[in-house]
Formats: sequence, structure tokens, C-alpha cells
Amino acid sequence: MVDSGPCQLSKSAPVFARRRKNKGWKGGIEDDDATALHQIVQDHKIKSLLEFGPGYSTHAFLCAGVERIVSCEHDPNWLATARGLFATEKRVTILPYTNTPVVAVNLEGQTFDAAFVDSPEGSAKARVVHRGQEDLSRYNTLRAALIHAPLAFLHDARRPLEQAALARLVAEGVAEWDMFATTKGIARLRRLKVPE
Ligand SMILES: C[S@@+](CC[C@H](N)C(=O)[O-])C[C@H]1O[C@@H](n2cnc3c(N)ncnc32)[C@H](O)[C@@H]1O
Repeated sequence: MVDSGPCQLSKSAPVFARRRKNKGWKGGIEDDDATALHQIVQDHKIKSLLEFGPGYSTHAFLCAGVERIVSCEHDPNWLATARGLFATEKRVTILPYTNTPVVAVNLEGQTFDAAFVDSPEGSAKARVVHRGQEDLSRYNTLRAALIHAPLAFLHDARRPLEQAALARLVAEGVAEWDMFATTKGIARLRRLKVPE
């Protein structure tokens, strides 16, 4: 078990140190994202959060004052690691989800002030390509997020396949979005209708 540690929004945070040991892994939020998320939590008065992809971002949201986080993970190894990382943190619940075209996750009708989507993996090497979503990344988790929250934030939003997922949701009339200009990009989606 690794304590999530004091609220340092820097690479010295224990959660981030653990990630750094995994050489070559370039995923997850950067420090400029953490700073932007802190501001987002204040601006939108976010007290409850649904997350796809636990890790340093979960730590950043706790530091920003979020009181309840349900964070969902599809990879069994990272699920076990994340459960260990936040084992003593009462504000955090880690749940499994399926990385399938329509995500399955047992949220029992819970609603949240906002959602943060940083999973599944979107890089060309690691991503799972779903039928009907070949040119989209994180479309499945964004739809799940917008069922449970009126506001969603998408990490890695500058990448072409994430841009395509945003365009699809706009074309469907599900959401409108704008961008926070961090290095990796965070898109803010405002729900216009609940996805079916
Ligand atoms: C971009 S990461 C999300 C991490 C988290 N939001 C953060 O900022 O640290 C997306 C996915 O990568 C996978 N993953 C693989 N190795 C990982 C690691 N060392 N740390 C975090 N996620 C990892 C997990 O399945 C996770 O859902």
C-alpha cells in the first residue's frame, strides 16, 4: 500500500513517483494538467467526481478538495494497484469497468457533479479498437461519463482520435465542448442530452 501522501501537486507526490518507476510509460496527467484541474474544481464547485483511469489525477482531485471520487479501471493489474494506492482513502472508491463499445460499470444510478475521462489507453500501441469506433478514442467512456454527470473533462484532448470522439458527440447533439490549453489538452464537455 502506498499512501497518496500530502497534497503536493508535483512530481514528488508518491502516486506520481510510483508511476515514474514504470519506465517508458508516458500516460496520465502532467503537472500543468493538475494545476488546471485544481482551478476547474474550484470554478465548478465539484464535490463529487466520476473518473475513468485512476492515478495521479485522483490524487490531484483530492488535493483540490473533491469529497467523493468513484474511479473506474478496466485493466486488472492497474485496478489492483489503484486499490492499493487508495486503500486508506475513504473518499475514493475504485470500481472495475469493461473496455467494450458500450462500457459496463456498476454505478447503481449514482450521479456526480462532474466526470474526468483519462482511460482507456489512447495511444496507437496500447488502444483497443472497437467495431464502429475505429477512428475514435474514449468515445465509450465519454458516453458512460455523460450518463452520470452533466459535465465531463477529457484528458489528451488534442489527439486526433479524441478530437474525433468529441466531434461525434457534437454531431449526435450529446454535448458541446471547449478546451483548456494544457500540453496534453483537457476538453470540457457540457451535456446537452443524456446519451441513450
Ligand atoms: C492515461 S492512464 C490514467 C492515469 C491517471 N488518470 C493519471 O493521471 O495518472 C490510462 C490507463 O493507462 C493504464 N495504465 C497502464 N499502466 C499504468 C500506470 N503505470 N499508471 C496509470 N495507468 C496505467 C490504465 O489502464 C489506465 O486506465
